Amino acid sequence: MSRAPSLLMVDPGHFEVSYTINPWMKPDAWSQDREGHFRAAQASSLALRQALEKAGAEVIMMPGAAGLPDMVFPANAAVVLDGRAIVARFRCPERRGEEALFLKLFQSYRARGLFTEVAQYPETVFQEGAGDCIWDHTRQFFWAGYGQRSVRESLAVTRDFFGVTIEPLELVSPRFYHLDTCFLSLSGGEVVYYPQAFSEAGRGRIRDIVGADKLIAAGDEDAAAFCINAVNFGREIVMARPKDGLRAKLSERGYHVTGVDLDSFIMSGGGAYCMTLRLDRASDAATAKAKVARA
Ligand code: ARG
Repeated sequence: MSRAPSLLMVDPGHFEVSYTINPWMKPDAWSQDREGHFRAAQASSLALRQALEKAGAEVIMMPGAAGLPDMVFPANAAVVLDGRAIVARFRCPERRGEEALFLKLFQSYRARGLFTEVAQYPETVFQEGAGDCIWDHTRQFFWAGYGQRSVRESLAVTRDFFGVTIEPLELVSPRFYHLDTCFLSLSGGEVVYYPQAFSEAGRGRIRDIVGADKLIAAGDEDAAAFCINAVNFGREIVMARPKDGLRAKLSERGYHVTGVDLDSFIMSGGGAYCMTLRLDRASDAATAKAKVARA
């Protein structure tokens, strides 16, 4: 039997929208009803956690920190594969304080033998974690976004650290500033994407690699509702409440979709995927090696 997927989440007790580093963030709208939005965010975070657990995941909660409201989006903390983590370098100064806290967390995992190696991107090489680096389990490589937050130079660092192929995707829209806002890789090999977020070359690569039968284009409404920013394991998909036809398209393909009200986090430009970080992501090569070692 395979173990439950392990997902990191961050306690939302310090969450707010107090600055603008992407076009979705409206501190004015937040301050019109600070308490109401805060309360809704606490409820939404709990609802997400419960939906993930119900779908079969194990959720590990990490405390947040005062003055770092966007820490609730740990997908940006690091890229993780095969018990190895490379910790992010944030482009926006508002989020840089998170780096040391996530580094400390992964170092503690290493000290406990849960991780074998923990590194960090070089100081000047911006890279915002799994939000811009998405593992494709079917194809055994990372799709890596660059051009908005992460820089193209980060791709070679990721490739060298993990020793796996990286498929670069240039992001061209400030509204879809992380790859996970416009790209979702599913367990069955399907890819959901929002074509307008990518350069012509990127769209071409996605079409060539994924193939028409496995490629699902999301509409404007689902993209703006952060539904592409979804968590998938097995046949389960957990996402912000879907709007358009996306739920139907995924159900048709045999996925079970759970929609959660994440409106207060969408006010910060984030959805389900970025509120989590998968800690036990493993490549087939490492899984096979571990099996041999156990035999
Ligand atoms: N306010 C956060 C930021 O702009 C939202 C991050 C969402 N994370 C993600 N992986 N899409 O950085």
